[in-house]
Amino acid sequence: MLESGNLKRKNLGSSREEIDYEMRFLNEGYLDDIARLQEIMVQNLQDKEIFRLTAPEEFRELLAQKRTVIGILTEDGLIAYNMVCFPKEDGDNFGVDINLPQSELKKVVHLKAVVVHPAYRGNELQKRLANIHLKVLQELGYKHVCSTVSPKNAISIQNHLASGFVVKGLKIKYGDRLRYIMYKNIFRPFVPGPKVVAINITDIYGQEMLIDRGFAGFKIQVRNDGWQVMYCMPVSKLF
Ligand SMILES: CC(C)(COP(=O)(O)OP(=O)(O)OC[C@H]1O[C@@H](n2cnc3c(N)ncnc32)[C@H](O)[C@@H]1OP(=O)(O)O)[C@@H](O)C(=O)NCCC(=O)NCCS
Repeated sequence: MLESGNLKRKNLGSSREEIDYEMRFLNEGYLDDIARLQEIMVQNLQDKEIFRLTAPEEFRELLAQKRTVIGILTEDGLIAYNMVCFPKEDGDNFGVDINLPQSELKKVVHLKAVVVHPAYRGNELQKRLANIHLKVLQELGYKHVCSTVSPKNAISIQNHLASGFVVKGLKIKYGDRLRYIMYKNIFRPFVPGPKVVAINITDIYGQEMLIDRGFAGFKIQVRNDGWQVMYCMPVSKLF
């Protein structure tokens, strides 16, 4: 077991109840539970474009590998999971999207998916799962962690930034979906430089220009005219 404690569950009528949980690595025995939780999440999703579904064979492949999936279990069964995958150097490696040197591509991990059951949202489980998985990845010798997030998914962007990721790319991925490429160097925390540029999250061209010039998005905030992303140059090299 990785962790245990209690969580707040939203009940009907919006009351909240304390429920015990356990966090653990999942194996193939959890295939049906994971698929069921993904289905519940999708049915609750207002904009289906923001989440790329994991196919059953992808789940099976990942669960067969050690330490790739961390789950949270309560009396309701599986209520959250975080899944990572280890891309090949010559495959779809997000390190390529952010111009990581070829020699570093073998040290790249992808955060593939995170899902929290709607009744358990608000317990910061995305951050907690990511932070525990990052420690495990560090022990395994991985250095670069990449993740794709839709610019429409402000909560997930906020949670990535809070876990030390920065926006390092903005690209069409998975055929036709606009995605930020979020990046974290496990061994070197990002230190923002003094020159900060705030830009509206819908200004795609402006953000691409900043990223091309070496800026990285490190903060997001809501203003009257929508979400703003703050970009800056890092104080030292990211990779
Ligand atoms: C993104 C996700 C994992 C975050 O869940 P989480 O860790 O429980 O979120 P947090 O605890 O950080 O929530 C912060 C606040 O946002 C709210 N919130 C979280 N997810 C929300 C959602 N999808 N819609 C509306 N509000 C949400 C929480 O209730 C909380 O509000 P509160 O402070 O008033 O209680 C979860 O929303 C989810 O499973 N979304 C669908 C799948 C997805 O988008 N995955 C990420 C793909 S990159």
